[in-house]
Amino acid sequence: MIEISAISAFYGKHCALDGVSLTVQRGELVVILGANGAGKTTLLKAIGGLVPVAPGGRIAMAGKELTAVPAHDIVAAGVALVPEGRGIFGEMTVRENLLLGAYPARARKTEARNLELVLSLFPRLNERLRQTVRTMSGGEQQMVAIGRALMTAPDILLLDEPSLGLSPIMCKELFQSLGRIRDAGLGILLVEQNAKQSLKIADRGYLIESGRIVGAGTGAALSADPAVQRAYLGAG
Ligand SMILES: Nc1ncnc2c1ncn2[C@@H]1O[C@H](COP(=O)(O)OP(=O)(O)OP(=O)(O)O)[C@@H](O)[C@H]1O
Ligand SMILES: [Mg+2]
Repeated sequence: MIEISAISAFYGKHCALDGVSLTVQRGELVVILGANGAGKTTLLKAIGGLVPVAPGGRIAMAGKELTAVPAHDIVAAGVALVPEGRGIFGEMTVRENLLLGAYPARARKTEARNLELVLSLFPRLNERLRQTVRTMSGGEQQMVAIGRALMTAPDILLLDEPSLGLSPIMCKELFQSLGRIRDAGLGILLVEQNAKQSLKIADRGYLIESGRIVGAGTGAALSADPAVQRAYLGAG
């Protein structure tokens, strides 16, 4: 569904992504694991059109060219990014934040249905539609951020470390919700530090080091790999 081939990205002379290729299908949850500074956020930003892709790289979605396309057109093509730190509006209510997501033409017709989907995925938001987002817990704010992205009616959801700062219980709840979003037919590309839980729910995963993919496999195969256990699962 989304095909990324040989994309590189630079900050000045610094090469943060070096020829990364990967795919995510509909109904598939794919995790990217990598240390701090490995290039994970840069990868998601490059896909979302927020960081330029160097010549030679290509991003396509169901055959449609997305390389060098402006960020709002990438959203319109069905790719939604939930950025690191969430990017929601604290002074607005839950409902207002969610409805902001419904701005692309593709999402306007189905706004009511999308809202229903979001509220069924995150029943807690339904109880708090009028609450100012700033006063919500970290986990609830993460639900608002994901909910807003879902309101754009995406085919592919990009998530940058959604579990950051959440309690173990909220974390578990979040991963369960991601499983349900995948089961609803979306493709999910998930960047996570929480390797253990994300590999548990992932269909496939990639390992990224210094801007390069250095390993790939099914969630089960990566979990069982001794090198992955040493590097990402805290095994001795
Ligand atoms: N705006 C920027 N200007 C210059 N260098 C940057 C910029 N953003 C990121 N970098 C550098 O690019 C590299 C990759 O950064 P990136 O944010 O993609 O890493 P990451 O894998 O998301 O790390 P983390 O796990 O800490 O979030 C790092 O060396 C970082 O210092
Ligand atoms: Mg990052």
